[in-house]
Amino acid sequence: MSTKLKTSYSTVLEASLEDAERFWSEAAKDLHWTRPWDKVLDDSDAPYYRWFTGGELNTCYNALDLHVDEGNGDRTALIYDSAVTQSHQTFSYVELRDVVARFAGVLAARGVGKGDRVIVYMPMVPEAVIAMLACARLGAVHSVVFGGFAANELAVRLDDATPKAIVSASCGIEPGRVVEYKPLLDEAIGLADHKPDFCIVLQRPQAEAPMTAGRDFDWSKEAAEAVPHECVPVQATDPLYILYTSGTTGQPKGVIRDNGGHAVALKWTMKNIYDVDPDETFWAASDVGWVVGHSYIVYAPLLAGNATVLYEGKPVGTPDPGAFWRVISEHRVSVLFTAPTAFRAIKKEDPVGDYIGRYDISSLRYLFLAGERTDPDTLHWAEDKLNVPVIDHWWQTETGWPIAANCAGIELLPIKEGSSSMPVPGWDLLVLDEAGEPVPSGEIGTLAVKLPLPPGTFPTLWNARQRHFDSYLSRFPGYYNTSDAGIIDADGYVYVMARTDDIINVAGHRLSTGAMEEVLADHPDVAECAVTGIADDLKGQAPLGFLVLNAGCDRPVGEICAEVVGMVRERIGPVAAFKQALVVQRLPKTRSGKVLRGTMRAIADGEEWKMPATIDDPAILDEITAVLAGIGLPRGQ
Ligand code: COA
Ligand code: AMP
Repeated sequence: MSTKLKTSYSTVLEASLEDAERFWSEAAKDLHWTRPWDKVLDDSDAPYYRWFTGGELNTCYNALDLHVDEGNGDRTALIYDSAVTQSHQTFSYVELRDVVARFAGVLAARGVGKGDRVIVYMPMVPEAVIAMLACARLGAVHSVVFGGFAANELAVRLDDATPKAIVSASCGIEPGRVVEYKPLLDEAIGLADHKPDFCIVLQRPQAEAPMTAGRDFDWSKEAAEAVPHECVPVQATDPLYILYTSGTTGQPKGVIRDNGGHAVALKWTMKNIYDVDPDETFWAASDVGWVVGHSYIVYAPLLAGNATVLYEGKPVGTPDPGAFWRVISEHRVSVLFTAPTAFRAIKKEDPVGDYIGRYDISSLRYLFLAGERTDPDTLHWAEDKLNVPVIDHWWQTETGWPIAANCAGIELLPIKEGSSSMPVPGWDLLVLDEAGEPVPSGEIGTLAVKLPLPPGTFPTLWNARQRHFDSYLSRFPGYYNTSDAGIIDADGYVYVMARTDDIINVAGHRLSTGAMEEVLADHPDVAECAVTGIADDLKGQAPLGFLVLNAGCDRPVGEICAEVVGMVRERIGPVAAFKQALVVQRLPKTRSGKVLRGTMRAIADGEEWKMPATIDDPAILDEITAVLAGIGLPRGQ
């Protein structure tokens, strides 16, 4: 039996849960407010809680101007390192503030103001960060759409967010190919019912985009003529951004982040979780299109006065598996944050770590991993090769910052493989059974957080309050349902095991199998379909489609499978990484008609599985097993 010691971590956790208002109001003193809040926690509309109601501030002011006003304007704010164009650019806080103020002037001159939405559809260039912060400066609400999504996905977001403007670029650069963004942007605007008033396009030399007269304006020309704009104070509870993420259907969920609680919580995390001090360099190797990019490339490091790295490239192939070590050594990175899949990619190409020895990475103090569970092989390889603590931590687009982590800045706890450590202060995390009762330690159930959620999470979904309630609050009244199954052990360590819904995680990217099924079902020869996520050595999971064809269809199955693969790429985007579909006679179902996706996944992964008691025809599983064996699944058998 283990004995729990009273540690400083547990003291901070207790303080945060016993008197959350006191805890977070202390943290809020670290920010500049133009009007103090009336209430720290407003529970008048529970279970919808709001933080710092009545307070006014500007997030951009706190991320940039405050540091300049405090005399730290010469410190490095943003380091753009592009492995794909082999170029670098560094901005001090004063320089970044000036370009952001100027771009805010561009948007304002064309009519963007407080509360207006602006879609940012850009590759990993400094202008993406500048556009986000310029929106924050004006009190406008940005919605960044990841570049790997197709035009149709962008159109869906356009119709939901109804933006006044879109900020984009002529192209992104993927290894070996230039991805032209402008045709995708034009197609999306054509598809959507809602049309933006105008677009600002950054022309990159790799592909100049033709402009639509009267609608599209050139970033450089506009910025050259702009008048810098001051920060506009907003309510703490006003939205800062909307970030769309996969739900269980093709309609993505627009997660709203507000200004006040977000700035308070994120600034707090930089020292307490990541243990970085102002002026140190923090690198989240992700993309601004994902939540990690919003929180830990842009807002948190800038709020905390760090230098943040914006890396345009991959862990491997740009040009080799030494890319990460080069960036760490050139920019003296103290803390690296990425997804385990990036390390699996590096390990695959450089298993002994030859490339690591070619660079001086002595500045590195921690590696943080998230997005998917860190598998023990990757954990030990990284620990062994980097000789720093390797910390798995767990969070979601909805939460905006980690639910469970090893809070290195409070107290570095022993690392247990497979675990994302302990609940972060602010999070009252439990494991619940089907009836909503807490389970004994060590038993699996749904990971749920007792309400209210801490500041910096999400008040609700854009245009979808009922969906918010149905997805997160209704299953276990009084709790936030994370839709992750997991265990908390006797020492309080959290193990996140699997999603309880139809979400899969491919290369750290969150995808909806339901959205892929909607695309497959649109193929004229497909009668029924199912998509499941199967284990993948590199990407963690990969989607696999099962198709039942219409009776009488005599077209070659190979052709149909290739067509559906093309359709997913065309409609959702290359990021879905949907590469394989199989034709089966029937899908396994329960007697009530529910497709047994979990059983198909277990067979494909070679896991032990039980014949579901409610299956309508057990023989179907023999066929599925045989079809999977035909493509070499499960592997190694
Ligand atoms: N614009 C256009 N296309 C994009 C894109 C973008 N911004 N990002 C990815 N894609 C494309 C890729 O080119 C690829 O296309 P392909 O099928 O033609 O090869 C496809 O989308 C899948 O991309 P990805 O899943 O990134 O696979 P990859 O093989 O290019 O790279 C890894 C694999 C592991 C190296 C890469 O996924 C990685 O570095 N992951 C880090 C994880 C991460 O950043 N997670 C975010 C949360 S922390
Ligand atoms: P996203 O919203 O893209 O950040 O994805 C969130 C989901 O990714 C979570 O609900 C988990 O299923 C998974 N996830 C993120 N981090 C971890 C982790 N450290 N361990 C296990 N799963 C994780």
